[in-house]
Order: sequence, then structure tokens, then C-alpha cells
Amino acid sequence: MNLHGKHIVLGMTGGIAAYKVCELARRLQDEGATVQAVMSRAAQEFVTATTMQALTGRPVFTDQWSTEGGRVDNAMPHIDITRVADAIVVAPASAHFLARVANGMADDLLSTLVLARRCPLLAAPAMNVEMWNNPATQRNVATLRADGITLLGPADGDQACGETGSGRMLEPHELLEDLVAFFQPKLLAGKRVLITAGPTFEPIDPVRGITNLSSGKMGFAIARAAREAGADVTLVAGPTMLPTPRGVARIDVQSAQQMHDAVMQHAATSQVFIAVAAVADWRVTHAAPTKIKKGSGTPTLHLEANPDILATVAHMNNAPLCVGFAAETNDVEQHGTAKRHSKNIPLLVANLAQDAFGSDDNELLLIDALGTTVLKRASKLAQARRLIADIARRLP
Ligand code: C5P
Repeated sequence: MNLHGKHIVLGMTGGIAAYKVCELARRLQDEGATVQAVMSRAAQEFVTATTMQALTGRPVFTDQWSTEGGRVDNAMPHIDITRVADAIVVAPASAHFLARVANGMADDLLSTLVLARRCPLLAAPAMNVEMWNNPATQRNVATLRADGITLLGPADGDQACGETGSGRMLEPHELLEDLVAFFQPKLLAGKRVLITAGPTFEPIDPVRGITNLSSGKMGFAIARAAREAGADVTLVAGPTMLPTPRGVARIDVQSAQQMHDAVMQHAATSQVFIAVAAVADWRVTHAAPTKIKKGSGTPTLHLEANPDILATVAHMNNAPLCVGFAAETNDVEQHGTAKRHSKNIPLLVANLAQDAFGSDDNELLLIDALGTTVLKRASKLAQARRLIADIARRLP
């Protein structure tokens, strides 16, 4: 539960994207947050307050003058609603709403409580492409950013009006990921982090190859955690179907050689390199250019060693802080310690291969010059965040 204990004021203004915010309200609660919806009059043209009440399990605030039901003891909802909130998230945020906030206007409950807030404000713009591109909106957006307000999106794409372009509200899962990231400490702000993840695939012929059981989940979780911590993240990924974490620059590769080449392009400008990929140790010397036919007899495969990406980066002048991974089937700590020495790296993360490959959680051993620290079994994302915190402490 990534938002455990958080109280979110979910503001809604007028826009067809309001229907997606019904889903967002649910997802916020799935992650452990409590949600207080506040709707503008226009928002209620798209979704009713009854819908939001049913989804959040709380009466919805719609009117700054209402004292009905004694919802707020002193009849000051514009102050009280946000005093217990960890953040206000306004989604959808209309062009008109952004204009009012940029100019400090307070003419309904939502804009008034935004002006009176002490907590952070995040807004997810949703509007027609021309409205978004209009210089007035862009001026307002610049003002909002300068005022420390976080804008989530908008995205590009098809719009409800039939036009295409920037102004689409982010999808609920994207808003959720951005909000979760917002609350993470920015331990790696301004740092560039390079990560390898997943298996590699070494071709035998155009349709066959040698690969392994790495799912890429751990490396992708680390990329997400590094991004949440404010880093500029490049993820070099072997073949995997996993979605790219938000805000992460992904380079897809197939073979170890391609992974090596992509890494070497970014290593010199990175402060941290985390080699999570399960890189194939060998490749087929001459992959066949056409499919090997069964009728031509059992083929003999000649193998040659792949470059050791981690060792290469670790031996660079001005090498980034290098972190290696070891998946072992037995004697995890001994093998991990030996591997840390052989790779010449300050930190090695070891785990049990049969335990880690493909699963959603694992136990990690962090092995450095001082000894071993156990990160007890937890989700890969939780482990990734712990590892990122540990790495941040090691940076100058
Ligand atoms: O050499 P070994 O596979 O045992 O070491 C594992 C660590 O080295 C992992 O961090 C892995 O990503 C990295 N590695 C690499 N290039 C290779 C083999 C492993 O970067 N060719």
C-alpha cells in the first residue's frame, strides 16, 4: 500500500475526464489513502456527487455556503477540509480552474480551499488542445509552476472533442504513480542513474535463441524507485513485456553486446550504475542468417564470451558508483562476497535465484566492505526503495 495513512482531498472541476477520476478515487483507496472529494458545480455536470460519495465512502463537499449536516463544525469548510490533508489533487483541472488558481481567485469552495491550503497542490490538466496551447493557459501554467504547484501531465493523444494533441488528462494509473512518487523523499535529486534489467537474448538464428528466466521486475522496480527519488533514470532493458515506469528513459536491447553498447553510451555521464540484468555469459559465435532447418541434422553451437558490462564500467576512469546483483542457487552470501571482489565494486546485492526470478517479492543481502545487511522479504518495489536509500547514502 503505497499511500498508507495519506489523506487526499480530491478536487474535481468540469471536464469529460471526470469519469476517469471515479476510477482514480478507487485506486487511491486501494493504495491505503482516504479520499475527500470536493466538486465544482461544473464537475457535477459530468459525474454526480452521489457517485463520488459512494466511491469514497464520505459526503462530498460542493458548496462553500452549505452548513447542512453539520459537516464542518465552525462552518468553515474552505479552511478545515485541507488542514488534515497530505495533498490536494485536482483532476480534472479545467483551463478555467488553472486560470483562477494562477491569479489567486477564490469564488467557489474548491478554489477557496486551494487558496487557503497549507498542503501541496497537484493538478491534472484536462482540456482541448487549443485551450492548452493558448498563450493565456501557458502563461497560467508557468505561474502555477513558479508557485510550486505540481502539474501532472497533460498527455498527448486523441481527445473527446475529436481533435488530437496535448491536453488529455493522464490515465488514473499514471496519476496514481505520479502521486505515489510525489510523496517519496528526493534522495537522488539531480543524479543520473543508469540501470540494466531483464534477461538478454542471444540469437542462434532469426527465430531461436539463448535466454534465461529473469523477468526484469527487480530492475524495473529499482528504476521506478530511483525516479521516485528524483533521479534522471536511463533503463537499458533486455526483452521483457513490463511497462516502463513513469518518467524513465528506456532503451530496449536484445543481446548482451547491445546492452553493453547502450550502457557505454551513458556510463560516463551517470553517477550511479546498477547492473540488475541477468546478462548471458556466452553468445553463439555465428548466428545463422536464416532459420536452421531440422532436416539438416543436429547443429553444433559454438559459443564465445560476452563482454562483462559491470566489470567494464567499474574499471572506467571516473566510474559511477557501481552496484552489482548476484542471483545464486546456494551459499548466497559466500558467492556474493566473492563476486563483489571479482567485479571490483563497492556494493553487491545478492539473492536466491529460485526465490527471486519472476516473483513479486524477495529477500536481499547487501554486501559491502563492512559486511552483510539483510533486507527482509518484501515486495520488489519496497526493496528497491530501501536499496535506493542505501545507495544515496554512499554518494559523495
Ligand atoms: O558475472 P555474474 O553474472 O556472476 O555477475 C552478475 C552481475 O554482473 C550482475 O550485476 C550482472 O548484471 C552483471 N553482469 C554484467 N555483464 C555480464 C555478466 C554479468 O554486467 N556479462
